Amino acid sequence: MKIGVYPGTFDPITHGHTDIIVRSLRVFDKVIVAVAPNPTKRPLFDLAERLEMVKLVTKGLPHVEVVTFKGLLVEYVQKRKAHAVIRGLRAISDFEYEFQMALVNRKLNKSVETVFLMPSEEYSYLTSTIIKEVARFGGRLTDFLHPQVAQRLLRRIGTRAT
Ligand code: COA
Repeated sequence: MKIGVYPGTFDPITHGHTDIIVRSLRVFDKVIVAVAPNPTKRPLFDLAERLEMVKLVTKGLPHVEVVTFKGLLVEYVQKRKAHAVIRGLRAISDFEYEFQMALVNRKLNKSVETVFLMPSEEYSYLTSTIIKEVARFGGRLTDFLHPQVAQRLLRRIGTRAT
């Protein structure tokens, strides 16, 4: 049974992330979506909210487990006896950072491999930050987010704005 761990901040989960999860299921028997606290990014949604949104979006997908993890990713991967870390490689601009992260993870634990998947090109420009920006200025979110995630984002931004 091949297990992949797809880590991220998911602040919030976008169609780009979901696309990677669906693609991962073609390669792995089970995918663990691991939501990181990542306080340095000062997320808009707290960890429990991000976890809930990822669970909501992936509800219909078989062989997906959604969890939170603390500490080093490689330690979590080892604890779960997973075979690889899954990352999406959206553009050349991602390469350097992803390469660095994969090599640091390998240095920390040489048995942890990283597998890169290419998202659909329609999502290759997405980031959670860009979507939050679109939401702040009242742009249409349906192309990027699950409707309930979009609703929560608008509510949160509305709350923050007042
Ligand atoms: N579609 C859409 N957006 C995507 C995407 C995709 N396929 N893949 C990535 N993104 C977005 C993310 O939403 C994020 O957007 P944001 O910066 O606007 O929030 C951005 O691209 C990528 O951010 P990045 O910081 O690279 O990844 P992340 O926030 O998703 O996750 C962790 C980073 C959690 C994997 C990393 O911090 C980690 O492993 N932390 C644990 C501690 C540790 O082990 N550190 C050592 C690692 S070297």
